[in-house]
Amino acid sequence: MIVAVYAVKGGAGRTTIAVNLAAAIGHKHRAECVLLDLSLPYNHAALVANLVPNGCLALSERADQDQFEHTLLAAGLHHPTGMVVLPSALKLEQSELVTAPLVQRALDVLEDAFSYVIVDLGVAMSEMTLGVLERAHRILIVVTAELPTLKDTAELMQVFEDVLEIPSGRVSLLLNHPRPQTLVTRADAERVVKRPMMAEIVYDGARFDRAAVTGEVLVAAEPSSMSAKTIGKLAAGIIDEHKGHAAKRA
Ligand SMILES: Nc1ncnc2c1ncn2[C@@H]1O[C@H](COP(=O)(O)OP(=O)(O)OP(=O)(O)O)[C@@H](O)[C@H]1O
Ligand SMILES: [Mg+2]
Repeated sequence: MIVAVYAVKGGAGRTTIAVNLAAAIGHKHRAECVLLDLSLPYNHAALVANLVPNGCLALSERADQDQFEHTLLAAGLHHPTGMVVLPSALKLEQSELVTAPLVQRALDVLEDAFSYVIVDLGVAMSEMTLGVLERAHRILIVVTAELPTLKDTAELMQVFEDVLEIPSGRVSLLLNHPRPQTLVTRADAERVVKRPMMAEIVYDGARFDRAAVTGEVLVAAEPSSMSAKTIGKLAAGIIDEHKGHAAKRA
């Protein structure tokens, strides 16, 4: 099952949510959940999870066809929570190697090897991003409580429906507060975007940053904090959805 995490604006909390979500799923299903970091040109997921990468998707591109799968899977970093983190580029100049067809090839391999593929997407609506969004079973759109972001998210939802023909049931909106409470409420956000928010992640002060600095992931370090609980519920929902897909296939 592919879960794409996207936001129309940088700094909305995509990486934080993707890392914590993958860790929460990985904790329940060890080594069955991979976080593919496609947030380019700067990959941060491994850093946030305190992992030191030595391989990446861009480097596996050079491998022979029969070595591609092996090289790609070997680049996955096993985190103590149980998730696997796969960077797509280690250096700025490698990000150009991460093309839309390469990502599709990687997704073929990852879908076979893992039950859950969480993708941290960049902001750019590139061919690569579109390819992942079209293929994702669940799309999580991270929304922040600012009017321009809400307006752009409303427009994006329209493009999903009218242009990309992505069924609305596949898309969930997550209201995140990376900064202390603003004047815009959840009800305001829902009115502007014209869709309900599936969940709201509170501003959790320095918790996320502190966990990252000490090399931990919040859902594992402080599972009873408000934001970790919300992400835990989100993970449980995705696990249920995956079970539903598996039951349908059987
Ligand atoms: N709910 C929250 N409470 C407190 N801090 C948060 C919350 N969500 C995110 N943050 C913090 O906000 C900052 C930006 O988050 P993050 O890096 O996850 O965003 P992003 O969308 O991935 O950004 P980028 O565009 O740089 O990739 C980080 O310092 C993170 O710890
Ligand atoms: Mg990020």
